[in-house]
Amino acid sequence: MGSIGAKDVPQLLDANGRRIDGRGLEDLRPLRITAGPLQQAEGSAFVEWGDNKVMAAVYGPREVHPRHLQQTTKAVVQCKYNMAAFSVDERKRPGLDRRSQEISKVIAEAFESVLFVEEYPRTSIDIYIEVLQANAGTRCAGVVAASVALADAGIPMVDLVPAVAVGKVAGTIVLDLKKEEDNYGEADLPMALVPRSGRLVLLQMEGHMTRDELKRSLDLGVTGCKKIYEVQKQALRDRYAVSAPSAGAEVAA
Ligand code: CDP
Repeated sequence: MGSIGAKDVPQLLDANGRRIDGRGLEDLRPLRITAGPLQQAEGSAFVEWGDNKVMAAVYGPREVHPRHLQQTTKAVVQCKYNMAAFSVDERKRPGLDRRSQEISKVIAEAFESVLFVEEYPRTSIDIYIEVLQANAGTRCAGVVAASVALADAGIPMVDLVPAVAVGKVAGTIVLDLKKEEDNYGEADLPMALVPRSGRLVLLQMEGHMTRDELKRSLDLGVTGCKKIYEVQKQALRDRYAVSAPSAGAEVAA
């Protein structure tokens, strides 16, 4: 991205506590979820969240490929997170890089604890996440899309899994970072929640915050996840409602 001097860092919070895109500290970016847009996949979902556009497709339980990954006591959950070359400002080199591998791994682990894997030994549940346009928080958008896709496929799971990143910008804890906040902020804390039990199934952190800030971030993230959960449920209702479906579930900023 080239070197950036301190004077080039954008002002992330104004004097009134407004963020770079006009949001308040605890506001989500507009979120819209469409369940089942793909015909060929067993389950699918499309998430438009701020400037992120993320498609998820799922299959399974089905035969394991490659075969040596097969487990006799449970299904394996495999995830492939991919960023399209055209999804970011500077063309991303296609293919699997370390970041995509890490994100694929943490998302697979998050879902392994939510799906009833013991019920389907020797099978695979496969999650594909394609990021078509990226603006920070794509792993969370991927989790949100994948859980709606899994439900769309009728794969039994404990609960839908909402996810959101909380962070610290200009010394303040804020919900749902966009790209400038992610790049120039002090901390980024993506998390995914099982609302029914309150269990976190994904929690990562980049940067620094105090113990008290971390506690406040977790509380704010849980509140955000509960709002996202409602949009996920509405997307599924819209897809499967017998009467008058709308074009997609959404939350305004
Ligand atoms: O997307 P997420 O916040 O989950 O992951 P990240 O590694 O913190 O990346 C933050 C953002 O940086 C991405 O969403 C993209 O907008 C951007 N990025 C990029 O421009 N080029 C890359 N090769 C990777 C990320």
